[in-house]
Amino acid sequence: MPRTKIAGIGHHVPENVYTNEDLIKYMDTTNEWIIERTGIEERRFIKKGEDTTTTLAAKASRNACKHAGIEPEEIDFIIFATLSPDYYFPGSGVLLQRELGITKTEIGALDIRNQCTGFIYGLSVADQFIKSGMYKNILLVGAEVHSVGLDFSTKGRNVSVIFGDGAGAVILQPTEQEDQGVLLSELHSDGTHAEQLCVLSPGSHSGMHMPDTDFGLDDEKPIGGYFLSEKILEDGHYHPHMSGKLVFKHAVVKFPEVIKSVLSKMKLSSADLDMFIPHQANLRISQFVQKILGLADDKVYNNIQKYGNTTAASIPIALSEAVQLGKVKRGDLVCLAAFGAGFTWGSTLLRW
Ligand code: ACO
Repeated sequence: MPRTKIAGIGHHVPENVYTNEDLIKYMDTTNEWIIERTGIEERRFIKKGEDTTTTLAAKASRNACKHAGIEPEEIDFIIFATLSPDYYFPGSGVLLQRELGITKTEIGALDIRNQCTGFIYGLSVADQFIKSGMYKNILLVGAEVHSVGLDFSTKGRNVSVIFGDGAGAVILQPTEQEDQGVLLSELHSDGTHAEQLCVLSPGSHSGMHMPDTDFGLDDEKPIGGYFLSEKILEDGHYHPHMSGKLVFKHAVVKFPEVIKSVLSKMKLSSADLDMFIPHQANLRISQFVQKILGLADDKVYNNIQKYGNTTAASIPIALSEAVQLGKVKRGDLVCLAAFGAGFTWGSTLLRW
């Protein structure tokens, strides 16, 4: 059975830099508070009217294709992980196909909604397709535009200071090489705390607050499809909400747990790792996990300081940068891991 290798990788972040000082214009916060709690110094936001999640993804995807030495037309399956799609539906996979000029229809496009773990889940799905021989060139992309959905008032500051826009992509291909490719992925979920890190509306759950007459038209004057009403706008439920302390508490337990589990299943230990690339949730979480795993600083790659948390895009952006900087080399044992909304978490071990 073939293994799945990352044949090419690329990323793209918007040019617009927003420092912590820039955010102070919109909300009551300080550079010190943001750095101390999250490690973030600046993030990138799209220039409105110029980019969407899909156009960022297309730029990252073209870079990944170039690195792999293939043309977009050679891609036979697209997996798109995002929590900030261009449209409520259709998903962004087909939009990316169009944006890349892929006109053939013998291609599938799948959308993944696993937020921070979207890239790990996508990699695991792609791995099964490659191993089964179904596809030969899978494009997996994680892309986010958070800047159009955040609450930049003081009310939303515990969330809005954390996130940034960006995209990262990989081209996955089969390989017969024994010393290269995905070794193992492990995925987890626990829906108990689903509403502790979420955007509630629009969504069918909003219909729970509507009377069962005239589709709610009388009482709750919908102002948009999918249960977007004036009440929901008033409540601000279309912005992300996060119980930060609860997320932190779970993340620092689940990250090490799943990493130790994949390592032990492969009869390896953290001492064997050449590089650990955690989802860039919060620098404090990454540092905590690094300490538990006993990893030296040069065995962990973090770039949240420059980009903030880019959710599904954070792992491929960080991996792409680490490869470009020569910090990840052929044959290196690399561990990717993520924890996020859902809650979902997971880890992948691979040989570069
Ligand atoms: N600037 C200044 N003060 C702030 C800010 C801000 N941006 N945000 C919150 N505060 C204030 C609060 O109002 C509160 O003030 P009070 O004590 O007077 O009430 C105080 O700071 C503490 O607020 P908490 O929300 O309890 O802050 P906490 O210490 O938990 O830090 C943080 C918040 C950084 C979000 C932290 O909980 C955390 O890191 N959680 C992990 C969550 C995370 O990393 N999420 C991203 C990953 S999730 C994902 O990737 C999908």
